[in-house]
Amino acid sequence: MRDTSQTPTIETIYSAEDIRVRLQVLATEIAAKQPKNLLVVPVLKGSFVFAADLIRALYGAGLAPEVDFLTLSSYRKSRVSSGQVSILRDLDLDVQNRHVILIDDVLDSGRTLAFAKDLIAARGAESIETCVLLDKKATRAVSIEPDYCAFECPDVFVVGYGMDVAHRYRELPFVGRIVD
Ligand code: IMP
Ligand code: MG
Repeated sequence: MRDTSQTPTIETIYSAEDIRVRLQVLATEIAAKQPKNLLVVPVLKGSFVFAADLIRALYGAGLAPEVDFLTLSSYRKSRVSSGQVSILRDLDLDVQNRHVILIDDVLDSGRTLAFAKDLIAARGAESIETCVLLDKKATRAVSIEPDYCAFECPDVFVVGYGMDVAHRYRELPFVGRIVD
């Protein structure tokens, strides 16, 4: 049984149903462009739940993407990013001449996705698009806009649906904020 004795209150911002409905729309938008030779690249760790649901929505929209994973670290120990990005685990697949869609949970300062885009571009991808669950427009430090975005999010620290604080709350099926 779940131990709730040390669980703070989590206020729901985007419910599981809100997310499910938006993902159908995003998948339809992506499929409308009829991307060929599509490689979906979730940027781990935070995007794994979003990516798992999105690729199944893409299947429902008629696409058959390949998937490979990139693990990046922005040295975010708590709620604050240091600004440096490094590769913790690289892709296995070659991206040359492929249509790549990078998947991330939150577009915040933008440094993580800007780093990933530059990396994939330098390896000769045919095109690179970005798809994020949440866009925090107010906190951008570098110039980058997502090609696809499920929700524009206010500048609050969120958890759940794959996103953590100190490795907790990734299992929540919704996006919420901790009410201390
Ligand atoms: P950026 O490089 O500042 O855009 O940071 C993006 C990364 O920081 C995301 O991929 C998340 O992993 C993490 N992040 C940013 N905001 C939040 C949040 O509110 N909750 C959990 N993780 C976050
Ligand atoms: Mg992330």
